[in-house]
Amino acid sequence: MRFGAEVEVAVTADRAAALALADELAPDVREALAALLAEVPYATYASLVPRPHPTAVAALAVRPSRAANLARLARTPRTAPVVVLDQPRNLGNAGAVIRLAAGFGATGVVTTGTLDPWHPTVVRGGAGLHFATAVERLSVGELPAGPVFALDPEGEDIRALELPDDALLAFGSERSGLSSELRARADHLVALPMRPQVSSYNLATSVAMTLYHWSTTGGAPA
Ligand SMILES: C[S@@+](CC[C@H](N)C(=O)[O-])C[C@H]1O[C@@H](n2cnc3c(N)ncnc32)[C@H](O)[C@@H]1O
Repeated sequence: MRFGAEVEVAVTADRAAALALADELAPDVREALAALLAEVPYATYASLVPRPHPTAVAALAVRPSRAANLARLARTPRTAPVVVLDQPRNLGNAGAVIRLAAGFGATGVVTTGTLDPWHPTVVRGGAGLHFATAVERLSVGELPAGPVFALDPEGEDIRALELPDDALLAFGSERSGLSSELRARADHLVALPMRPQVSSYNLATSVAMTLYHWSTTGGAPA
């Protein structure tokens, strides 16, 4: 709700507890939540969700349309990078990356390949932050314009580079790294500092380091 999600329905089995939680953690959306939130019996709540949550709150928000996401990704001048996950496999990594992108104010997170970045497990891993950044699945050919900085241990040391705000920061899959299609679209190969005995970092950790580097060389979260 804080990032403009269109929440159509919100229910809870304990309205007082949910509003107390909002008072504590999200006072800025408390009023809007109070206007929406309906109390229902616990059994009704539990029948609506695949896995009950200790807060006993369930809500239904409208997923932004592909057209709206494409417009956000294509808008120029771009003031913060787009993160591209090239054929990721792990839903937890994708969720963690969306949370990172939201935190750093990235323009969006694009995935290529078969993983659905709006899969319920990814949405849960993203802690509700899918509404704070544009999240879309595209082919490499559909990527928005901008210089592609592809992260690869064989690349140029990131510490020698400044990452521009309009960059596409691309990361390879957990199993096989960057695809040949993405490599062909890359303008720069960039490496994170790592001892030679270590083969690679975790995908989400690599995104964290790269966005942090971007934030220290110009761009920064608002
Ligand atoms: C788990 S790694 C992929 C490892 C894979 N076995 C491979 O052959 O590349 C996932 C992605 O994180 C990024 N990454 C991991 N360690 C990196 C490093 N030291 N420098 C640059 N990128 C790195 C790359 O984009 C990589 O494709």
